Amino acid sequence: MTGTMIELEHDLALLDRAARCAVRGHGHVEPNPMVGCVATDMDGVVVAVTHHQRYGGPHAEVLAIEMAGARLQGGTLHVTLEPCTHEGQTGPCTSAILDAGVSRVVIGQRDPNPDASGGVELLRAAGIEVDVLDHEASRLLLSPHVIRLQQQRPWVQAKWAQTVDGRIATRSGQSRWISSSRSRGMVHRQRGRVDAILTGIGTVMNDDPRLTARQGRPRRTPRRVLVDPRLDIPMDSALLATMDEAPLTIACLEDAPPERQDALRKLGVDVLALPAHESRIDLRSMLQLLHANHGISTVLVEAGPGLLSSLLEAGCVDEACVFIAPTLLGDEDATPPLKGRTPETVDGGLGMALQQVHRRGEDVLLRYGMLPGNS
Ligand SMILES: NC(=O)c1ccc[n+]([C@@H]2O[C@H](COP(=O)([O-])OP(=O)(O)OC[C@H]3O[C@@H](n4cnc5c(N)ncnc54)[C@H](OP(=O)(O)O)[C@@H]3O)[C@@H](O)[C@H]2O)c1
Repeated sequence: MTGTMIELEHDLALLDRAARCAVRGHGHVEPNPMVGCVATDMDGVVVAVTHHQRYGGPHAEVLAIEMAGARLQGGTLHVTLEPCTHEGQTGPCTSAILDAGVSRVVIGQRDPNPDASGGVELLRAAGIEVDVLDHEASRLLLSPHVIRLQQQRPWVQAKWAQTVDGRIATRSGQSRWISSSRSRGMVHRQRGRVDAILTGIGTVMNDDPRLTARQGRPRRTPRRVLVDPRLDIPMDSALLATMDEAPLTIACLEDAPPERQDALRKLGVDVLALPAHESRIDLRSMLQLLHANHGISTVLVEAGPGLLSSLLEAGCVDEACVFIAPTLLGDEDATPPLKGRTPETVDGGLGMALQQVHRRGEDVLLRYGMLPGNS
């Protein structure tokens, strides 16, 4: 291997370490991106590994500079995102880097936000060596932020639990429980890191879920969002019985019965009455409204094939988390995760990129990114 290749591998390994650290900010930093930073001294010894810890708090580079102190003179920062140049809620990171006497900065991804970018040019103009690498893990960390900036909607993660033969419920709609308690604990922890949990009326009718984060220490209280076009939600449902635990938005069609709209509003429900598009709710507009009205930046979808298929068709699913449980139903009429598509060839399927494989006891969790151009 040449010296340059060894250097590149070393840079990528340090960026990987910074990216692993960045993930600790999930649920604390959004709508900011998760960012991680590794500081090394002039001999290449790691002197700080930090991450952006909370929205409005110091950025990862500033924390690394504080932690490393004088040891950073002539050293290097590996940071997953281009250091910002703007005042924002904290000072510009580029100023802190210049003051710290850093000689090199390695960046995982450029900042897609025009208000914050320009750090690369500013640092180079000040004589610092700057390398920008198209680092995969840094790109994944930044993806939710890019979706929010470019599409003005939240990042949408769809989760479902299925049997090995690809069924999420029996033919009668019974799905409790396909995945193990360990997997369900993981879902509860994830609920406590997102701004909203989205489901459809079919799941409410079958499972009567509460959709609250009930394990671990929740980092945020997710708003429950229900797609219920005609307001069929039973008045004794668990969602309505737990209004004091987390807010509830119900998205319905404008012509849903006005007396039902009034009754639900009296209970404190945020009723989002939307115009019909080909007699359906436009899910992209609904997500954009949730983003604008409630600052919702991340959504976890826990729905059946009806809503999940509509969201995919609208191009509004960014990530899929699939728990596979060690059982086979063997019933061709049991409920699949999706419906309504009729591709003639395998090429006509929706493109996905495998990102992670986790073993959770007897279950396997597969995490996929949805490829663009699927809708
Ligand atoms: N294993 C798992 O991880 C898991 C998770 C959740 C649910 N489930 C299972 O899934 C089953 C329920 O599936 P489901 O498909 O009936 O429920 P669902 O996906 O939760 O909800 C479907 C409902 O959403 C409505 N909808 C979807 N897109 C819409 C749009 N664009 N505009 C207006 N309305 C829209 C549908 O309306 P239309 O009727 O007009 O199409 C339908 O009434 C249950 O058996 C449940 O146990 C399993």
